[in-house]
Amino acid sequence: MEGVTEPCFRDLVLERNPPQSLGGAFTEFVRVSEVPIPKRILRKHLGPRRFDAPVGVQLMGADLEKLAQTAARAVECGAPIVDLNFGCPAKGAIAGCAGSAMLREPASVERAVRTVVQACGSTPVSAKIRAGFDHARDVEVLARAAENGGAAMLTVHCRTRAEAYCENVDWSRIERAVASVRIPVCGNGSVKCFDDLERLRRETGCAFSMVGRGALADPWIFSGVAVTLEAAANFLLEYAATMSERHQLPAGGFGARLKQLLRYWTAGGLVTDEANRKEWLAEPSGDVLLARLRACATPLASAADARA
Ligand SMILES: Cc1cc2nc3c(=O)[nH]c(=O)nc-3n(C[C@H](O)[C@H](O)[C@H](O)COP(=O)(O)O)c2cc1C
Repeated sequence: MEGVTEPCFRDLVLERNPPQSLGGAFTEFVRVSEVPIPKRILRKHLGPRRFDAPVGVQLMGADLEKLAQTAARAVECGAPIVDLNFGCPAKGAIAGCAGSAMLREPASVERAVRTVVQACGSTPVSAKIRAGFDHARDVEVLARAAENGGAAMLTVHCRTRAEAYCENVDWSRIERAVASVRIPVCGNGSVKCFDDLERLRRETGCAFSMVGRGALADPWIFSGVAVTLEAAANFLLEYAATMSERHQLPAGGFGARLKQLLRYWTAGGLVTDEANRKEWLAEPSGDVLLARLRACATPLASAADARA
């Protein structure tokens, strides 16, 4: 997720969930516009650590040549899979005819996938679509476009672009996509707890479930572990420490990043209710946030305990 699930956060989540529970992840989207993205940037997105679960690079762009060149570089940097974003609803993406804008013309989805598949050799390419741009009537057409282009896997976020991040979702759109292609489909949209992961697969027949904001609320969602207050606080403390170390953030500069998680956080009962969430989010000082987290964490807790 752009701006949130950079390598520090992602690594902490991958550390806490075995590959049997968390089968893989993708970088936040890397926007390809003016020039192909340099390898230095792609390596930054992949991060310094590797896990048993693969982490693919997600690309978004409308210039197919630059997209293909960037995809080839991502493979050279060690990306085990390249994912193409056809879901971003942001105005900037739409203005550049990228992301969800491409859903308006299924042929452009197919062309983009085909071009990137050709550039990636034996490395698999996947595609992530929304159920449609303004409506979901053509989800089958979009799914087949990705498959015809050569996608090895298709993720379907069941909301349309017009629905943005609306509360109510219709998983039957994922079921329709599953029925229209032979490639494995990864269902996405409103998976909020561990049981939803299995329920989504059962109700739609999709092969995999993708979690978005649910992982910001509870990084242990993939394993269904109900963590303690201490473990929850330790996660956020370790996140702040890793962010500061890797990104040389100014003192207290991690406060905004912590709040991105606290906006959703449910794990360990750290955020007790919506009034308490407001209090966490209203705190202007990153250092005070840290002090509060330290008060919730057991002082003697080892890093290993924090990962329990
Ligand atoms: C802040 C934010 C950033 C996101 N960035 C990306 C992104 O970079 N690439 C992507 O494919 N989807 C992105 N998404 C969409 C999520 O991956 C996911 O498809 C969407 O939130 C629906 O899943 P959920 O209901 O489980 O959150 C983002 C969503 C949010 C809220």
